Amino acid sequence: MHDPKLAPKYENQARMLANKVQKTYKHLRKRFARQNINVFRLYDWDIPEIRAAVDWYAGHLVIAEYTRKQSTPEWLPLMGRAVAEILEVPSKNVHLKERRAGKQDGKRYERIDTTDKKFVVSERDLKFYVNPWDYIDTGLFSDHRNTRQMVREMARDKDFLNLYCYTGSFSCYAAKGGARTTTSVDRSETAIAWARENMELNGIPEQGNRLVQADTFDFLNRAKKEGRAYDLAVVDPPSYSTTRNRRMEFDILQDHPKLLAGVLEVMKPGSLVFFSTNHQDFEPRMENLGFSEAREITSLTIPEDYVSKKKTIHRCWKMVV
Ligand SMILES: C[S@@+](CC[C@H](N)C(=O)[O-])C[C@H]1O[C@@H](n2cnc3c(N)ncnc32)[C@H](O)[C@@H]1O
Repeated sequence: MHDPKLAPKYENQARMLANKVQKTYKHLRKRFARQNINVFRLYDWDIPEIRAAVDWYAGHLVIAEYTRKQSTPEWLPLMGRAVAEILEVPSKNVHLKERRAGKQDGKRYERIDTTDKKFVVSERDLKFYVNPWDYIDTGLFSDHRNTRQMVREMARDKDFLNLYCYTGSFSCYAAKGGARTTTSVDRSETAIAWARENMELNGIPEQGNRLVQADTFDFLNRAKKEGRAYDLAVVDPPSYSTTRNRRMEFDILQDHPKLLAGVLEVMKPGSLVFFSTNHQDFEPRMENLGFSEAREITSLTIPEDYVSKKKTIHRCWKMVV
C-alpha cells in the first residue's frame, strides 16, 4: 500500500462493496435465471466513493473502476478480491478493468491481452460469445438486452440494418424474430468475425444475413447508390471514433444529425430507426432531419439491473420515417 493511512479506508470500502453486491446478486440471480439470462449488472457506482461497476458473466466477474487520478493501484484488486470472496468466484474468473471516460473512449476497442479465449453466455433463448480477457468491453452490452427484445418483436419479414453492429447481438435477435434479411455493418474486422461466430452459434444462416466490414458513412453512401432500403434499423454509435492515426473523425454531439440524415436516406417510408447513445451529456438535435416522429424511449429500454440514480447507461430514441 503506497499510503498506509489508506488501508483501513480501502478495507472498509471493499467490505461495503462486497455486501452490496451480495445483496443484489441474491435478489437478481433467480429472477434472471427464470429468463435464462446469466449476464447482468450487480453494482454501478451506487456508493459515491466506490467508483466502480460490477458485472456477472455466467460465473465470471468483470469489475471496472471509473478511473480517477486519486486512486492507487491497490484499490481495484482489493475490491475484486472482496467481491470474489463473498460470491465464491475463483480468482481466475475475476477480470479487473480501468475505464476512462471521455475522448479516450476510442481506446476502449484496443486490446489489453491476447488470449483469444471466449466463452458462451445466455440471453433468453440466444447465446453469445464473450471475452472478458482481451478488451475493456467483453463483446456483449447487457444494458440493451430489452431493446434487442423489442427489435426482435418488430423484425418479422423486415429488412433490418444494424449500424456499428459490434458483435452482432441486435442482428441475431432480428434474425430470430423472422427478419427477411439482416445487414450488419462495423469497420472492425474483429467485430465482424465475432458477429459471424455469434450468428453461427445461434443457428442463423449466412444467406440473407450480410456482414459488412466498412465505415458507416462509406456504407451509407454505397447503399444509397445501390438503391438499398430498409424497414428497421439500429444505430448505436460510439461517442467518439478516431482514425488509425488518432484523428477525431466522429463526435456524437456534433455529428449525430449528419449520421441520422444519412440513415434516413436508406430507410423505406414508414420504417423505424432505433438510435442509442451512451454519451452522458448528449443533447439531441433531431427536429429538422425529416423523421415524422422521434420519441425518447429510454425508460422502456433500461433494464432493472441498470436503473441508477447516478447516471443513465444509455439513452434511446425510436424514430419513425
Ligand atoms: C458501442 S459499440 C456498438 C455496440 C453494438 N451496437 C451492440 O449492440 O453491441 C461501437 C462499435 O462501433 C464500431 N465503429 C466505430 N467507428 C466506426 C465507424 N466509423 N464505422 C463503422 N463502425 C464503427 C466499433 O468497431 C464498435 O464495434
